[in-house]
Amino acid sequence: MRTKTTLLAAILLISSTIWAKPTPEEGKTIFSTRCAGCHNVNKVLTGPALAGVDQRHTIEWIVNFVHSSQTVVKSGDKAAVALFEKFNRIPMPDHPDLTDDNIKSIVEYIKSESAGAAKQAVAVKDVDKPSESLSSFFSPGIILTFVVLFALLVTTILFAVRVKSLEREILKKKG
Ligand code: HEC
Repeated sequence: MRTKTTLLAAILLISSTIWAKPTPEEGKTIFSTRCAGCHNVNKVLTGPALAGVDQRHTIEWIVNFVHSSQTVVKSGDKAAVALFEKFNRIPMPDHPDLTDDNIKSIVEYIKSESAGAAKQAVAVKDVDKPSESLSSFFSPGIILTFVVLFALLVTTILFAVRVKSLEREILKKKG
């Protein structure tokens, strides 16, 4: 019984980590406490406006830059050096404690706040709603959860059958 409970707990844990995608909501919280002092999505402040940042750089670049912008600048990365010069050589502070997923969620938030993206989102909602909700229903997380639960069910049934036949054998031997 205990092994089964452990197994079930493990499955729940695995499926919940798959479910926990970086969300714009989480990004918004981090952005407003850690980034909004210097950045706005659509306006230039001390730092550049961040709208479209995911199109200017790869996600790896953004993660590295947020972790330690000066490391990227000093590595000679052309885009980083140009930005640093353009923004009066103000070094962006390091945020080494943010995880990759934290930073991805900030990027999700930036996407959801970009002026262009807002219009696109409305258009997508109007046109594609049924297929969109269908595809999000069949997300990898849910499919995996179903597969795992199904496998668990089959194992349990097989186990029960095996116990029954063992029981019968024992009874046969006795009788
Ligand atoms: C003290 C001000 C400051 C804070 C706080 C700050 N930044 Fe910056 N950021 C800058 C400046 C200035 C630049 C321009 C590059 C440079 O000077 O190094 C920049 C550049 C960037 C870039 C590159 C933008 C582009 O257009 O290519 C990204 C991405 C970025 N910051 C993300 C963030 C995130 C995410 C946070 C919060 C976790 C944050 N920044 C917090 C000042 C700041």
